[in-house]
Amino acid sequence: MSVPGDPARVGVLISGRGSNLQALLDAAAAYRLGGRVAVVVSNVAEAAGLERARRAGVPAIVQDHRGRSREEHDLSLLAHLQAHGVDLVCLAGYMRLLSPVLIRAYPGRVLNVHPSLLPAFPGLDAQRQAWEHGVKVSGATVHLVDEGLDTGPIVLQEAVPVLADDTPQALAARILEAEHRIYPQAVRLVLSGRLVRQGRRLLEETAP
Ligand code: GAR
Repeated sequence: MSVPGDPARVGVLISGRGSNLQALLDAAAAYRLGGRVAVVVSNVAEAAGLERARRAGVPAIVQDHRGRSREEHDLSLLAHLQAHGVDLVCLAGYMRLLSPVLIRAYPGRVLNVHPSLLPAFPGLDAQRQAWEHGVKVSGATVHLVDEGLDTGPIVLQEAVPVLADDTPQALAARILEAEHRIYPQAVRLVLSGRLVRQGRRLLEETAP
């Protein structure tokens, strides 16, 4: 954990392109994140996001999940996160379910960004799911990670329209822009300590 006065340390887990990671790095560089990215871990060696981390001077680690149980893999992730003093874990296009080992080590301190307005369209290829379903509005969600699939309490959402001539790819691109806006805001909000939980609801404490 970081010492008082130091910026909070964010650990980011990725599997690919890393554009959400980039949004977090950019926000941190502009002092809009409320913390700094202390380490990036990818389960895929070729993930383009690793290079984004290196360019920003952030340690970039590959932890291949293949050939190991989910728990074994997550224990290795946890060791990397703890070695870098991580306070908050952000999943940014990390395409694996987390085991309780990791979630319980960071209670209320693991965030995920998902490309739909949850609870609609959890799981893989959410943008295509929404497009095929014919919804007129979709969007992006940042939520706390619990032990279910995209089921945790919602921190922030942003809606985007689904247009008549959209393809799944065009819709995904519009949603991605919303993800890049709300993910840094959500991290800042969680790190501010001003979120209070009432059941599933996360509410921002207002100043007295
Ligand atoms: C993003 O659209 C993110 O919401 C999605 O993967 C993409 C990663 O892009 N995540 C999920 O679908 C998780 N269920 P990025 O690597 O450029 O951030």
